[in-house]
Amino acid sequence: MRPLTVESLNPSISQVQYAVRGELAIKAEVYREQLKQTDNNLPFDKVISSNIGNPQQKGLDQPPITFTRQVAALMEWPMLADLAPNVFPRDVVARAKELSEEIGSIGAYSHSQGVPFIRKSVAQFIEDRDGFPSDPGHIFLTGGASAGVSLLISMLITPPTSGILIPIPQYPLYTATLAQHNGVVLPYHLDEASGWSTSVESIEAAVEKAHTEGITPKALVIINPGNPTGALLDESTQVKLVHLCEKYSLVLLADEVYQANLHQPESHSFTSFKKVVAQTRSPVPLVSFHSISKGVSGECGRRGGYFECTNFSEEILALIYKMVSVGLCPPLSGQIGVDSMVRPPKPGDESYELWKKETDTIHEVLRTRTRTMSARLNALPGVSCVDSPGALYLYPQIQLSKSAQDAARAAGKEPDAFYALELLDETGICVVPGSGFGQKEGEWHYRLTCLCPGVDEYVGKLENFHRGFIERYGA
Ligand SMILES: Cc1ncc(COP(=O)(O)O)c(C=O)c1O
Repeated sequence: MRPLTVESLNPSISQVQYAVRGELAIKAEVYREQLKQTDNNLPFDKVISSNIGNPQQKGLDQPPITFTRQVAALMEWPMLADLAPNVFPRDVVARAKELSEEIGSIGAYSHSQGVPFIRKSVAQFIEDRDGFPSDPGHIFLTGGASAGVSLLISMLITPPTSGILIPIPQYPLYTATLAQHNGVVLPYHLDEASGWSTSVESIEAAVEKAHTEGITPKALVIINPGNPTGALLDESTQVKLVHLCEKYSLVLLADEVYQANLHQPESHSFTSFKKVVAQTRSPVPLVSFHSISKGVSGECGRRGGYFECTNFSEEILALIYKMVSVGLCPPLSGQIGVDSMVRPPKPGDESYELWKKETDTIHEVLRTRTRTMSARLNALPGVSCVDSPGALYLYPQIQLSKSAQDAARAAGKEPDAFYALELLDETGICVVPGSGFGQKEGEWHYRLTCLCPGVDEYVGKLENFHRGFIERYGA
């Protein structure tokens, strides 16, 4: 028998890169294990996971929303409502009963597109948000937004001469999925100097470049609010982007998983692409993604999300349905999480006060941390950081001296990866180097989340490290 080798596998798999769980995260795991030993010889006593937007991760402090977990508990074991009659608020019991009547046991497969009743709730949420109709038949519940993005990319790409326009910096799900499906990454750069704004001209230039290289751009990815940038689009830019998609026959893939993470609501609000497409009566085919992993819900491990298709023919919707049927159904626990996200308690419900307090606290904590961290990062020599109005991250730019760059190359690393590795080795703080998200030639960044508690201590360590790094390698 021939041995199973890497060479015998689908070659696309070797091309896939995903920095968020890459070298730094792997080394952080090793350190975490090492810390369990008493004589570990490490210069820090904990690993700080600032590399991934996983709000409920061990070591972080974002609690789950009580309402979400109570509904989930009763869906797992409906008998609990009778065994603990005074524990659950009346609206939770009523919600679980209503869902149970629709779903039955959560141990059964559901409709492949997602429980119809929950899809109706999603459609209502979208209508209330945008003021335009939404059809539950055009909504697909998914195991997180990633599953939806992956499916759509797999359906859009016709290798080897088609590509998708991706913002740089980007969330690496996009480049990873394109690599897997032999699609061409068509990068367009966001403008850091203007708060990571999206320039229609730079996208147009990327389309024209693709055409000259014989590549057909199939879709435009917009992440709004941005990851890793935290930038928010204004409505006039969104209208222009929709027109650009019309001009070049592009599908618009709108990744809106951070729509509820807004840190400067007085000046930066979120407008969905669904609303812009509806308002402008645009024929652009749009897929809008949402997730329970982010926002105030933070239920990453539950794997829930949805996508809504706008301006898709019934024929294509039937094909998407066929493809999701192959996977049988999205996880029921995630679908129930979606229901709690789109139908939170209303004023007057028994759970409302607690829900309001919990969600207000999460928003306030994220806002304060984002503001404090960006101010302190900006005060460091050689660091500039856009004070991000949305999402869960900051993406500071760092100036690295020639001697730091030389030391990095000698170690076989990208300079920002070298900086991030030294940061991890010295402080236990795990961030993701900008090379994992993309950046302009000769620029260096890293992404850190705004989710870590003890900002004073943590940013203090980061500041000390940065100053020491400059002492070692020069400014
Ligand atoms: C921009 C963006 N899109 C999609 C996802 C995937 O989220 P999910 O957990 O819903 O798959 C993430 C996760 O970090 C993200 O940042």
